[in-house]
Parts: sequence; structure tokens; C-alpha cells
Amino acid sequence: MRRRTIQYIGLLFIVAVVTHLYFLSPSDSPRLDSEWNDDNYELGGSESQASLTADVHRRDAVVAAFQYAWSAYERDAMGSDEYHPISHRGTNLSTSGGIGYTVVDAIDTMLLMGLHQEYSRASNWVRNHLSFDRDGQSRCFNTFETTIRVLGGLLSALHLTSDDMYLRHAVDLADRMLPAFDTPSGLPMTSVNLKTSVGIQDPGNHISTAEATTLQLEFRDLAQLTKNDTYWYKAEKVMAVVKAAHLPSNLAPISMNANDGSFSHSEIRLGSRGDSYYEYLLKQWLQTDRTEPVYLKMYEDTMLGIHNHLVQTTPTRKLTYIAELFPKGADWRTTWDLNHKQDHLVCFLAGSLMLGATTAGSRGAVSVPPKMDELTRSGQRDWKTGVELLEGCMATHETATGLSPEIVQFQPSADQPERDWYIKGSRPGGPASYDARYMLRPETVESLFLAWRLTGNKRYRDYSWGIFQAIEKHCRLESGGYATVLDVDTVPVRHDDKQETFYLSETLKYLFLTFADESVLPLDGYVFNTEAHPLPVFRPSIQPMFTL
Ligand SMILES: *[C@@H]1O[C@H](CO)[C@@H](O)[C@H](O)[C@H]1NC(C)=O
Ligand SMILES: *[C@@H]1O[C@H](CO)[C@@H](O)[C@H](O)[C@H]1NC(C)=O
Repeated sequence: MRRRTIQYIGLLFIVAVVTHLYFLSPSDSPRLDSEWNDDNYELGGSESQASLTADVHRRDAVVAAFQYAWSAYERDAMGSDEYHPISHRGTNLSTSGGIGYTVVDAIDTMLLMGLHQEYSRASNWVRNHLSFDRDGQSRCFNTFETTIRVLGGLLSALHLTSDDMYLRHAVDLADRMLPAFDTPSGLPMTSVNLKTSVGIQDPGNHISTAEATTLQLEFRDLAQLTKNDTYWYKAEKVMAVVKAAHLPSNLAPISMNANDGSFSHSEIRLGSRGDSYYEYLLKQWLQTDRTEPVYLKMYEDTMLGIHNHLVQTTPTRKLTYIAELFPKGADWRTTWDLNHKQDHLVCFLAGSLMLGATTAGSRGAVSVPPKMDELTRSGQRDWKTGVELLEGCMATHETATGLSPEIVQFQPSADQPERDWYIKGSRPGGPASYDARYMLRPETVESLFLAWRLTGNKRYRDYSWGIFQAIEKHCRLESGGYATVLDVDTVPVRHDDKQETFYLSETLKYLFLTFADESVLPLDGYVFNTEAHPLPVFRPSIQPMFTL
């Protein structure tokens, strides 16, 4: 039964790829309507709309960028976990060898792009060299990062190819990681030694909320594939613990205690260590074909909390952003200070809100773009915030390079009052702080991809193209590969010696999908894990235990 499912999905994939390679005629694109007329969410008139077929020229430019990034890695560092494109070398997360961090993360992008030669070499590497028998001294293998990049990459490669080799590796990896869940609360430990299969606890028994709650799509998918409910219940238990720790705001502080399952004294934010908790609430509901209302309820409650406490607009340009909360004094569970800081990571929320509005917030079928009366009240609210947050994120690209910084403060500064935000510790032209860097992150282009698919509004493709061109101009290295830019507000730029694996798995994939035909990974058939690995929607054959 399982094999048939996989083959069926594999066949669908081949059909999708063939369709998008050979039948690029724009004639059978879906009818778009432009009835979304409320001034606040005006998405432009009909001239700005395009059909959801491929933009071949831009799509192929993104494919060429992927080949440029991958070929430099393959030349200098094939098989190493991480790539340093300036010094032309790789490094591994452990001294005993790599776990395929870059190779496995990049495979599904190659498959989607139709890069057969690159895929053939990468899959041979997996066949002949991938091993998880790696002794991670100290805290080498982060439970969350290993899950989203390696387990997620193996699972999506499996779904796209039906090659059982990926399933065997996925089972092996997951089995080595399961002991990380053996804590008093069931929240996972932060790290794991894959060779000895022993979980390694943080000294204070803390785990980031996002790290604990961003393993579920992957472990549930594996449970469905293998019909083994162990993977399911370990991951599901975490969600029950988080729900039980509930705070009156419906929001989740970024740190939890793995001993007792409570929230620790920590900030609330949609950026680092908080972000994908919110992302996976919606996606868990979507993954199982909307059959688990408990996630819908948690998602709706948290989106209300975000609107009640975190959504802000700047005084001058009325830019929308998501602020953070700092815990205050002894009553920290209920008393907070607002901090007008936004991580680039938060920009994932724009597209997530729009996707949520058209699914969790829909009254039934939803048009492209949605009509107001197709959405519930909270769906309308979330759509509007998503659209506006995306514009706010685009405003953070108004820099000397057109790239957005890692962290912005949404307050006017004396240097550039017209911008309505500034980079802490930096000035245009230098010197620069850590916050000023662009590390090839995907979150804005991820949201632009979703916005494009949900509206068909060409504005979003044009934004994506602008960001892609800024990456080409400032991150691409003459000697091969792409690198982090240290200060987005200073040209010519200086680079950091790192090409992050998520550039291959996320940034370039979302850019590719934005310019590809919409039949490549239709949104109603897949959920993307937080590393952009597509996993199919299914009806669970395992009985969920965490219910309303
Ligand atoms: C990292 O590990 C892989 C796989 O074991 C190996 O092929 C590669 O040479 C290692 N890289 C470095 C820099 O040691
Ligand atoms: C499910 O997986 C767990 C972990 O590998 C294993 O201990 C158990 O035997 C498996 N159960 C079945 C029914 O295969």
C-alpha cells in the first residue's frame, strides 16, 4: 500500500515536471479575478496580474544560480556538512565526519529543477557515503536542525523519487534521534549523539520552543510511511505539553523547561527560537488534510494573540511589523514590555498568514486572489496583516544593496528618518554590527512565493526578481558560490566565508517555484517543512492521541 502511494506521488511528480518543461502555454491558466477591492488590501488592477504559468527566463536564471552555487560546493567540499566558498573548503559538524547536511538538503531542489546530472552525483554520494554513525562530541548534532535539514531532505527526496534508499536512511536517522525525546516532560533534548544514540541535554534543561515544536511534520510523515506510530506519538506528545503550558496571551515564550514542560522566563517573538512553532501549527493541520481540529484551534488562538499583542505599524510610513515582548518582573507570565525589533526570520509569517487566511480562515472554496466574502472575519484580518507585513518586509530591502538585514528596529533614526527603521549598532557606509548582515536567508522570498500563488499578482514576482538580482549582484563570488554579505548598507560589500545550506534548499527553491508553473508542487497537495522540503498531504492511518 505504502509503495503504491509513493509510486503514485512519484508519478504525479514526473507528470508535473514534464508539464512544466514542455507545456508552457499560458492559455489554460485559471481565471483570475480582481474583486479584492477593499482599499487596505488592494492588490493592484488587472494589468498587474499574470497567469500562474512559468516565467521561463527568470526561472532559468534561478536554475543557473543553483548550478553555480552547487558546482562550487561540489568542486571544493563535496560531502562536507558546511561550505566556506571564499577559502574553498568544507567543514563537518563533528570530527568523525559529516551527515550530509548540504547534500541531502539540496537534493529535492535539484529534482524540482530537473538537474539530472547534479542529482545523479548527489544521490550516488548518498548511496555510497552517507552515514549517521557519527560521534558528535559535545553538542554537535542539534535535534531540530538535523530533523529539518537531513530527515526532511531525505523524506522529500523519497516522495519525489520513490527510491527506498532514502527511506532506509530516514528510518536509521530517526531511530538514532528518538532517545532525545526521553525527558521527564517529553520535550526533546537540544542535541543528540548519532553514533551512540544518546540525547544530550542543555545544561539548564532548556529547549527552544521552536526547536521542540518543529519536528512534527517530519516525524509524522515518517510514521505514515512506515506505519510505525512511535515516531508519531513522540512528536505529538510535545504539542500536548506546549498546549498544557498555555499562557493567557495565547503566545509562547521562546524557551521551555524539558523537565517539567513549562515555559521558561524568556522573550516572546516570531523570530529566532519562536518562529516555526507558529508555522507548524497551521501546517500540522494542513498536513493531515484538515482532520485534526486541535491544531486549527491552537493556530487560531495564537493568531488572535499575535494581533492583540504584537502587530504594530510605524508612525510615518505606516509599515506593518511584528514586535517582540520582553518579560517584566515577577509577573512575567502576564506582564511584558514591547520591543520594536524584528528578525528577518519573522518575514515567513506574511506568507503563512495569507496561507492560513485561505485555509483556516476560509468559508469554502477560495478564489485567486481571494474575495473578501470567501474569508471569515479572522481570515480577513490575517490576510490583511499578511499582505501588509509583506510590504513591511519589502521596506527592509530599501538598503544600499537591496538586501535586507538580519535584524531591524522599527523606529525612525536620526541618520535616515525617511526609512522608518534602522539597524542597531550600524550606520550606512559602516561600521556594521551583526544585525546588518544578509546570510542568504529565504523568509521574504518564501512569503513572496505564497503571495504569488495565492493572488497571481505580478507585483510579487517582481519583488522576488528584485531580491534575486540583488543576491546575484552582491552575494555571488567570482571564484564560485555565494556568500553572506556582512553589511547590507555598504557597497562595495564585504563577505563572510559561508554559503548556508538553506540557500540551496530554501532560498533558491522558493525563487524557482515563484517563476515556475503552478502545477509544480500545488499548494493544496503539499506542506513545506521549515527548511522548504515538500511533504505530501495525507489522511493519517495512525489514530492521533492529541485531540481537542
Ligand atoms: C566531512 O565528512 C565527509 C563524510 O564523511 C567527508 O567526505 C569529508 O571529507 C569531510 N570533510 C572534512 C573537511 O573533513
Ligand atoms: C517502530 O519503531 C521503533 C523505533 O525504531 C521500534 O522500536 C519499533 O519496534 C517499531 N515498531 C514496529 C511495529 O515496527
